[in-house]
Amino acid sequence: MAMMNKQQKTEKNNSKRVPTGIVGFDELCGGGLIKNRTYLVSGAAGAGKTIFGLQYIYNGITKFGENGIYIATEERPEQLRENVKKFGWDLEALEEEGKLAIIDACSTKIGIPSHEKYVDVRPFDMRSMMDQIIAIQDTIDAKRAVVDGTTSIGFYLQDPAKIRVELLKLSTTLEILGLTSLMTCEILDESNPSRFGVEVFVTEGTILMYYKRTNSVRVRSIEIFKMRGSDHSKNIHPYDITPTGIVVHPHEEVYTA
Ligand SMILES: Nc1ncnc2c1ncn2[C@@H]1O[C@H](COP(=O)(O)OP(=O)(O)OP(=O)(O)O)[C@@H](O)[C@H]1O
Ligand SMILES: [Mg+2]
Repeated sequence: MAMMNKQQKTEKNNSKRVPTGIVGFDELCGGGLIKNRTYLVSGAAGAGKTIFGLQYIYNGITKFGENGIYIATEERPEQLRENVKKFGWDLEALEEEGKLAIIDACSTKIGIPSHEKYVDVRPFDMRSMMDQIIAIQDTIDAKRAVVDGTTSIGFYLQDPAKIRVELLKLSTTLEILGLTSLMTCEILDESNPSRFGVEVFVTEGTILMYYKRTNSVRVRSIEIFKMRGSDHSKNIHPYDITPTGIVVHPHEEVYTA
């Protein structure tokens, strides 16, 4: 076999895909996310961002043998474990097996005690959060991470220039650690995929989740808004939250006109 030159090697490496394992999603973007990159998952409250993130981590461990780190800034880990039990996902078992680490970055922020194994002791000290991720990575050798979410970090820092630098530090650290990551972003207006105007620029791609009312029903749909270095569907596809989690319908489209 002919030797690959450096550029060919880079291209081969760049095209390595990390499947989310979320039914119907991966075929919208050439088989999955590009390895070692960070993606933004934006949507209004209740759009399904947290479920999407946990399903990505859960599938990573159970279907692809890739360990995961989940940073919870807006919900206590206890609630997360409870909420996804109805999908049949036993997060606690994965934590006990050393395949999943959930960082409680919520309790300290609101001033309540935490009994979690991993607690972010200083609210939004990016250095200490990154140090903790580095330490966890040393033990569990994860391949996937989720930061849920960037909005509370943004509110804490306030200044968009600061938010941009801190989120860039975080996403770059995750990439250097060999993690393919999602960061969630809570938006108010579905025509703008970022809350502080900077989140989409520090990430390699943006996935938008909609929960729109049409007449008397709300319809869930998902769009790949941006994915650097990859071809992807330009359409908006409906999805459901089923008893086994999110199911995307890649051959159906939602018209928003
Ligand atoms: N078992 C289930 N079956 C169907 N729908 C569900 C189920 N569990 C949750 N949901 C729906 O998912 C929504 C919550 O999803 P999720 O927590 O992922 O949203 P989110 O985008 O993270 O919201 P937030 O911005 O408030 O954190 C609920 O409001 C509910 O409509
Ligand atoms: Mg959420």
